[in-house]
Amino acid sequence: MTRLRDERTPPPEFRRLVHEIAMLVLYEATADLGTAPADVRTPLAAYKGVRLAQTVGLVPVLRAGIGMVEAALQLIPEAQVWHIGLFRDEHTLRPIEYYNKLPSAATAQVCLVLDPMLATGGSSVATIEILKRWGARRVKYVGLIAAPEGVKALNDAHPDVPIHIASLDEKLNDKGYIVPGLGDAGDRQFGTS
Ligand code: PRP
Ligand code: URA
Repeated sequence: MTRLRDERTPPPEFRRLVHEIAMLVLYEATADLGTAPADVRTPLAAYKGVRLAQTVGLVPVLRAGIGMVEAALQLIPEAQVWHIGLFRDEHTLRPIEYYNKLPSAATAQVCLVLDPMLATGGSSVATIEILKRWGARRVKYVGLIAAPEGVKALNDAHPDVPIHIASLDEKLNDKGYIVPGLGDAGDRQFGTS
């Protein structure tokens, strides 16, 4: 997390760190997914194992959530990926939806919203509203850094949605950026500014 935050970390290393830390957070976020028995034989004996029994939809919020998708697919290769595009209006800080690739019916039993930054919470609250209107019943938020304001907004709007993050930071500044944070997660991944 220290290297991720460091303003000198260039985009290739930044993307690698987003991937690595996302996988660690996802390990916790997926720990309670339902399993079913799966019996196999080792070379020595019968073994009563388990397999993942729930269908999972990954919902990366464009752009910054894209960097977390590969990590999630390494853990759950059979998951479907449904992209949602939102950006924050820089004056109002309200999310504007510009892309939605949800299938016509809610097919997954669990949706994991992937977005590294939970700042005002507007983007995540809006994404989860879209998912619930569409029919999603179980949703989890998976991110990297949150501000207390964003955690409160998400908890108030969607108390049923657990929040999994790597770090709870101090506050938002007057432009809605997380402090100390890491700056703009989309810009830092994709080398834009
Ligand atoms: C960032 C980030 C979140 C949002 C968080 O996206 O990836 O989606 O801001 O802020 P909020 O909690 O106040 O809504 P941004 O709007 O910068 O778009 P980008 O990923 O395309 O750069
Ligand atoms: N979005 C970001 O990428 N960073 C912030 O600090 C807040 C919103």
